[in-house]
Amino acid sequence: MPIPRSEYLSSVWKDGIFAGRVAFVTGGAGSICSAQTRALVALGANAAIIGRNVEKTERVAADIATARPGAKVIGIGGCDVRDPQALVDAAKRCAEELGGIDFVIAGAAGNFVAPISGLSSNAFRTVMEIDVMGTYNTVKATVPYLVESAKRNPNPSADGLTGGRILAVSAAFHYTGTPMQAHVMAAKASVDNIMVSVALEYGPLGVTANVVTPGGIEGTEGMERLASSKVTAKQLGRSIPSGRMGTIRDIADATVYLFSDAGNYVNGDILVVDGAAWRSNGST
Ligand code: HXC
Repeated sequence: MPIPRSEYLSSVWKDGIFAGRVAFVTGGAGSICSAQTRALVALGANAAIIGRNVEKTERVAADIATARPGAKVIGIGGCDVRDPQALVDAAKRCAEELGGIDFVIAGAAGNFVAPISGLSSNAFRTVMEIDVMGTYNTVKATVPYLVESAKRNPNPSADGLTGGRILAVSAAFHYTGTPMQAHVMAAKASVDNIMVSVALEYGPLGVTANVVTPGGIEGTEGMERLASSKVTAKQLGRSIPSGRMGTIRDIADATVYLFSDAGNYVNGDILVVDGAAWRSNGST
């Protein structure tokens, strides 16, 4: 049975705003990126989701396709974002099967909790390679398609239909400082700045590049890995100024805004969607 739309998308968005657009999403089988993709698909886009695990990627792609009758969603499994050629091949397949690439979400990431004393060089490098090289490889493989998309759909758009947009998914750990996250703080600081570079170099060609930074999102693999099992979502929510944990819908809605005509002039920015958690430093 399809997931109710209200779980991953606000009712304020108009149907069809992404009609004819194609999204390319790394990490697209994960909880946050699959919700982002589902929202784009519900509003008219087709999509390719990229992942390492073949069975999971294809299963989630088929599930996302139920968001809209007639939607095309392909799962490109067996693709590791650390392998630049694998991403080039995936982008080519997406463009051939779906007709181009208009939107990219660089969402593949790796995380675990470890102090520096328990973090080998290889462990640090692994997260740097997945997050930083993975994001850079995604940019390199897809940006030519985004430039083509921006030519077809100039920014600002006359018809409300947008193209040539890339969004990286970051984390807020390095905005203040978080113990046991040396690897992720280093990696996500780089991810944020890769997007700034894309905005500066490809903005003149009509492409926008931004970052969305989720806070703690209820029910995700990331939270399972990072939160103590003794603390409930309700307890965690009380420590956040907005009074609750984030939901996958919060991130999907932010993505829709940035890819929509309403987000035309937002470029090189970081949109933190965390109920002001990082601003409060745990003082709420
Ligand atoms: C210390 C660890 C470790 C741990 C792995 N390593 N887990 N070190 N503590 N808990 C070390 C290994 O011992 C090894 O080093 C090195 O990391 C590489 O491990 P592999 O298992 O060989 O790597 P790989 O198979 O490539 O897996 C990558 C991974 C894995 C990052 C380690 O966890 C993974 O695939 N994760 C993807 C999914 C994921 O992390 N999702 C959460 C994203 S959430 P040695 O020295 O032994 O060789 C997120 C933001 C959340 O990013 C924000 C919430 C607020």
